[in-house]
Amino acid sequence: MLRVRQAQKIEGTICVPGDKSISHRAVMFGALANGTTTIEGFLPGADCLSTISCFRSMGIAIEQQDDKVTVQGKGWYGLQEPSEHLEVGNSGTTIRLMAGIMSTQPFHVVMEGDESIAKRPMRRVIGPLRQMGAKIDGRKDGEFTPLSIRGGDLQAITYQSPVASAQVKSAILLAGLQAKGVTSVTEPHLSRDHTERMLQAFGVQVLRDGLTVSVEGGQELQGRAISVPGDISSAAFLIAAVMVVPGSSLLIENVGINPSRTGIIDVVKAMGGSLELLNERIVNEEPVADLLVTHSELHGIEIAGDLIPRLIDEIPVIAVMASQAKGKTVIRDAEELKVKETDRIATVVSQLSKFGAKVTPTDDGMIIEGQTPLTAATIDSHGDHRIGMAMAIAGLAASGETVVENDEAIDVSFPGFGQLLEKVSK
Ligand code: S3P
Repeated sequence: MLRVRQAQKIEGTICVPGDKSISHRAVMFGALANGTTTIEGFLPGADCLSTISCFRSMGIAIEQQDDKVTVQGKGWYGLQEPSEHLEVGNSGTTIRLMAGIMSTQPFHVVMEGDESIAKRPMRRVIGPLRQMGAKIDGRKDGEFTPLSIRGGDLQAITYQSPVASAQVKSAILLAGLQAKGVTSVTEPHLSRDHTERMLQAFGVQVLRDGLTVSVEGGQELQGRAISVPGDISSAAFLIAAVMVVPGSSLLIENVGINPSRTGIIDVVKAMGGSLELLNERIVNEEPVADLLVTHSELHGIEIAGDLIPRLIDEIPVIAVMASQAKGKTVIRDAEELKVKETDRIATVVSQLSKFGAKVTPTDDGMIIEGQTPLTAATIDSHGDHRIGMAMAIAGLAASGETVVENDEAIDVSFPGFGQLLEKVSK
């Protein structure tokens, strides 16, 4: 159980753990590359550890000590058929990206995960991979886990994705790397582009044209050193902490500021928050900066359209900030929230309401009426890391002591969250 007391002030200079999306990809691409890949700044959270264990089960030697990882890549076809099911735990990124990779392999695997994974939609990746020629099955005609995959010779496709999802885009592009011809994916809005950037860092040619990304089949990856920046999705909880506790300021060092992820920065600024980017630089094709965040009075705004995929994981904590902002915040076009680790429209509304916040669910988002004084509550993460952390941030602004139940879920993406919060809370 995580206990959080109302804070007088949030202050300090901190780093957040490594980016989850980039950490997964570094291990996957390292395993498929020729030669050694070294990773520093790796996120040793449960999700990325699931990715490591899947590749170990297929005969890849991976050493991991905290945030340092060495992967002995054996080339794209150096994987061995695993003797057991691949367990992905709570990780949607692991199962969906690996569905693409497994579709290229000349053997059979079964992938499964926890209770939450069992409820998440898989046909969005299975459908296009089947079109390419992979033999994939799962419950409800491939909609749900366990997934059984027998890969083999694939044909390139031109795919118009109905959702802006980096997991869908990445699965198809990874399969496309071993398909005959040029595979293209077009999305309705740009989703995070870490796959495209990191494939280029591993020596692959990736073509981008607006919302379309293409790769030609038959390309090889070359192992290399990767430095993973701090995860902006984790930094978002600390940014919000500063915004909900008057008199606060934080310097958050070494945070990834890839434009496909910085919706949170745009929103905080649009709400009237003070946030400066310092020391901007590029590391392994990814932009990075230090963030100087200072408490400011916030006001409500509308969040919709292209912005949504750029902040989809931050919406639970944006709702917390909005409860402390003057006026109304409306979040639209975010129906994807319903298929995350939990239905995040339902869990944000049920948990944030316990503090006395005024949040109303809608079909594609929610409406939050600020500025509401919060009272401490006992909340349940429902096994969703971002719900647990968002509610802990609400606890910093709530009178009394908040208790977060099922807080072990937080380890999925932010090991050490509770200790870091204690360190910066005055
Ligand atoms: C991720 C993509 C996003 C995001 C998830 C990580 C990735 O999911 O919510 O936390 O690493 O590709 P979708 O692709 O389903 O939008």
